[in-house]
Formats: sequence, C-alpha cells, structure tokens
Amino acid sequence: MSRPKISVIGAGNVGATTALMIAQQELGDVVLVDIVEGMPQGKALDMMEMNPVYGYDVNITGTNGYEETAGSDVVVITSGIPRKPGMSRDDLIATNTAIVTEVTKNVAAKSPNAILILVTNPLDAMVYVAHKVSGFPKERVMGMAGVLDAARFRAFIGMELGVSVENIHAFVLGGHGDDMVPLTRCTTVAGVPVTELIPAERLEEIVKRTRGGGGEIVALLKTGSAFYAPAVSAVEMVEAILRDKKKILPCCVLAEGEYGVDNTFVGLPVKLGRKGIEEIFQVALSDKEKEEIKISASHVKELCDHIDKTAKN
Ligand code: NAI
Ligand code: 2OP
Repeated sequence: MSRPKISVIGAGNVGATTALMIAQQELGDVVLVDIVEGMPQGKALDMMEMNPVYGYDVNITGTNGYEETAGSDVVVITSGIPRKPGMSRDDLIATNTAIVTEVTKNVAAKSPNAILILVTNPLDAMVYVAHKVSGFPKERVMGMAGVLDAARFRAFIGMELGVSVENIHAFVLGGHGDDMVPLTRCTTVAGVPVTELIPAERLEEIVKRTRGGGGEIVALLKTGSAFYAPAVSAVEMVEAILRDKKKILPCCVLAEGEYGVDNTFVGLPVKLGRKGIEEIFQVALSDKEKEEIKISASHVKELCDHIDKTAKN
C-alpha cells in the first residue's frame, strides 16, 4: 500500500515546520512547494538527511512546481506574507488573496480529490477564497486557527494552575481575529469546569491574552509571526484526517445556519475524519456566546465581501 501524500505549499516558517512535523509522525510522503528557487529543495533534502538518525521512512520532496503534488490526499496551504508589528491579520488581505487564488488553482488542478487545510491569514477569508477557487465541496476545505487558539488558551491555563496541559480541554470558536470566542464555560481541567478553578477576573485576563496570543508573539519576534504552535496545530488536523480519528476540533468551516451563522466561514467544533469535515458538532451555547460568534462571523463576512468587491473592480 502506498503512503498518503501531503503537500505543503509555502516552505517558510509555518510550511517547513509543518513538513518536518508530518515527517516526524510518519503521516505520509511530503511535497514542499515554494516560489523561491532552491529553498524548498534545500529544506526537503535537509529533512531527508534527518531520516536515518530518527528512522523515519518517508519521502520529502522540495519543488517550485505542482507536478510532484499530483494526487495529494491533503494539501496544507501556508503560502503568503505574515504580519509584522503594528499590522493586523486583515492588513494582509490583498497580497494573500492573490497568492491563495493562484496556489489553489494549481493545487486543485493536480489533486482534485484532496482535502485543503488553509493556514494563510487572514485565515477565515482565505478559506473562503480557496473554497470558491477550488470548487471543492465544503467538507474538503477548512482552515486551521481554532486548534492553535485553543492550544494557547490551554497553555495559559496550564501555566496558571501548574497542571498538565493534557488535562485541559478547551474550545476557541469564531473567526481567527481579536474577536475570537474562547468558551470558558466549556473549558475543563480534568473534567472540572475552569470557572470553578480560576477566579472570573483572572480568567478574563487569560481570555484576553488568548485573543491577543498571535500579536504577543509578533511583538516579540518583530520579523514575522508564530510558527511552532501553528505548525503542530495544522499537523493535528492532518493526522485526524489521514488516521480517520473522528476527532472533535475547532476548525474554520462553512457555516450554513449552524450556531446562527449563515453562509460564512468561521471557527466551529467539527468532527474530522478521512472524509474531511464529517459533522459540525453542536454544543449548547449561551445567548451571549452565540452573539459573540455572530459578531465575529460578521467581521469575516465583511472581509469576504471586500474580496468579492475588489475582484469585480
Ligand atoms: P513565511 O514568510 O515564513 O513563509 C511564507 C512562504 O510563502 C515564503 O517562503 C514565500 O516564499 C511563500 N510564498 C509566497 N508566495 C507563494 C506562492 N505564490 N506560491 C508558493 N509559495 C509562496 O511566513 P509564515 O510565518 O510561514 O506564515 C505563512 C502564513 O501563515 C502567513 O499568512 C501567516 O499570517 C499565516 N499564519 C496563520 C496562522 C493561523 O493560525 N491560521 C498561524 C501562523 C501563521
Ligand atoms: C497567529 O495567531 C499569526 O495568525 C497567526 O500566530
């Protein structure tokens, strides 16, 4: 039986780290694509030379074209510019819409049955672009953000309580912007609601830090944005799909009425398996939480309308 094929488009910080982590988990053969000549080839060869030490049996190929991506099972799209201090994710929209459009056309032509995982920002709007350009069914086009935002939330709670992050379950829903919605009510530590363990005021500070988690790293790095936690979050989605785990993860998906959001890509809890998004998982939310998700989704809708308007002019 041949190994699954995963293509990673964009061999920069997130893309290269994603490729490395996919290889480390032996999820399949990896094709790393970038426009910079020699760079994806060099990084792929470097990773192939790690294989003997670790004992991974996977092929990692670097390329500037799409021939090698043909027949991919999963494609992770990370190509695009990251933000610098002072920029919001939305400031990236014009450049990254053009890049994601071109990349998605190439990917879809070579791998018509692939499942697409978008990483490029502004995330929710880029998933919208990839869905439109690929023409793929909604089950096969999704974005990575909620896994990362929830991981940050879990890390901060773990630091606060001094307990294993493995005990902490959390959901962060809504768009991948500063109005994302960390669900404190559904966040548990070894099954105990976090609201019983951390005073409300302190928990609110942790929620605020989670919302600004991407910006906190941009301010420290100064030359780009986070990539270790983003890469491992994308890889968790790849693994859930390829190993058909039916894992419930917050992912950016097309909502068609779920959670009161219509026809907009936004972060919701979904069941991820070999067919992609197998179900949007319904969690009973308070009116306040529903309202917050709607507000966040309306921001995504504005960005998508802007993309459509700019495309027409
Ligand atoms: P980076 O600058 O390190 O890498 C981006 C790569 O894309 C570069 O190597 C560049 O040459 C390549 N690229 C540009 N145009 C291309 C094209 N047409 N075809 C193929 N490759 C192309 O940036 P980094 O840090 O890897 O971030 C990538 C994107 O992911 C950014 O938009 C960033 O904002 C986003 N991001 C999103 C996260 C999320 O939670 N969804 C988390 C972290 C980053
Ligand atoms: C992050 O949250 C930049 O969106 C990216 O780190």
